[in-house]
Amino acid sequence: MLIDTILTPALFHLHSKDIENKQVVVIDILRATTTMVVAYENGANTVVPVEHLEDALFYREQGYLIAGERNGVKVEGFDMGNSPQEFTKDIVEGRNIVLSTTNGTKAINACSAAKFRYISSFRNIDAMAKTIIENNLNVLLFCAGWKDKFNLEDTVFAGALAQQLLDNGFTTNDDATRMACSLWNLAKPNLAAFLADASHVQRFKSLHIESDLEVCLRFNTFSGVVRV
Ligand code: MLT
Repeated sequence: MLIDTILTPALFHLHSKDIENKQVVVIDILRATTTMVVAYENGANTVVPVEHLEDALFYREQGYLIAGERNGVKVEGFDMGNSPQEFTKDIVEGRNIVLSTTNGTKAINACSAAKFRYISSFRNIDAMAKTIIENNLNVLLFCAGWKDKFNLEDTVFAGALAQQLLDNGFTTNDDATRMACSLWNLAKPNLAAFLADASHVQRFKSLHIESDLEVCLRFNTFSGVVRV
């Protein structure tokens, strides 16, 4: 089975052919797909990713908690922003949630035609790898990036996941995947240090939300996968 990596949503159109027969993993490490994993870790019933803020408001009428950010900042009037630290057990357990974010939920909605569509993060990377291997289908690793630009953290995660798949019989003809694996090999001795100058980490600093970083870089705190 083949692995391809989509480094930014701007390149998605190059990979959308035959997507109905592929499994896709959407990656937004800082923070949308990590926050979604945390919500499920803490017992959320469902987290519906929507592209537009107006769509989230519609879900409020159905009793959902509404969560969202734009440019990293919580949307005014919403129940939560996009910090994984807001999705605590006492708030999310048993609840239906709708989430709208700048890049992550947009990317998720872009690939709705996929045969299987997942979101993942370091917090469930091993479970994600196991499921991809069991599905035995070609896989697209779809990095949400930042406003169509490449980012380090999503690519490093794509490399970490791709490496597990390559170690288990998957192959690749894709230089983006090879580059992602090389980055992962550089990053893995000290992931936080490797990402210290990443553009979104700089943005975290300016927004005073650096404490989210450590939460987003924890490994395998959740043994489930999230199919959306
Ligand atoms: C996004 O979808 O762009 C984000 O996850 C941004 C953030 O909330 O840090």
